[in-house]
Amino acid sequence: MKSIVILVSGRGSNMQAIVDAAIPGVHIAAIISNRPDAGALGFAAERGIASAVVDHKAYSDRTAFDAALVECIDRFEPDLVVLAGFMRVLTDDFVRRYDGRLINIHPSLLPSFPGLHTHRRALEAGVRVHGATVHFVTPTLDCGPIIVQAVVPVIEGDDEAVLGARVLAQEHRIYAQAVRWFVDGRLRLDEAGRVRVADAVFDAQAG
Ligand code: GAR
Repeated sequence: MKSIVILVSGRGSNMQAIVDAAIPGVHIAAIISNRPDAGALGFAAERGIASAVVDHKAYSDRTAFDAALVECIDRFEPDLVVLAGFMRVLTDDFVRRYDGRLINIHPSLLPSFPGLHTHRRALEAGVRVHGATVHFVTPTLDCGPIIVQAVVPVIEGDDEAVLGARVLAQEHRIYAQAVRWFVDGRLRLDEAGRVRVADAVFDAQAG
């Protein structure tokens, strides 16, 4: 059994997709939010999943916040830490502590559109395809080794909301897939920092 902790800041639809995927061999040890009002916490309570809040506003700086977050995460002894709409930039020390077992989902085809407002920027740039990326987290924001991506078309007349919803549906699918690979022992970061996926048969229906 592999234990995972999911970090959230908001509604937590990616977290829900991972929980609902009911991946064999996965124990969701806790949902941790940096915001006390995150919708994700209600879902955790409904499902009887342990949750905790580490409110970033209670800490004087990023280092103090990350230290408190580490303490909270480590109480659950996770094999994998999953960032699911966790909207805080993490310190290098935090990222290094969970090297090879910290993953994130980002709503664009990285390396295009790191950062915020990805759907608006994709529309402004006039790209024909957009999507989502699951990657290992490294100290440089949204730059870690890519695990899996999903591509969606940009369709004439799309606005940010319509395009965002099309991307989100794919996020749910590929994030559950990546977690499944990890807990099956098929996904890892090698010594050179490259992603290795053994026998990666992509299940189009997964997630
Ligand atoms: C998702 O679209 C996720 O990719 C994005 O925030 C949203 C959270 O939604 N994450 C980032 O932008 C991180 N840079 P959710 O709370 O419903 O999963």
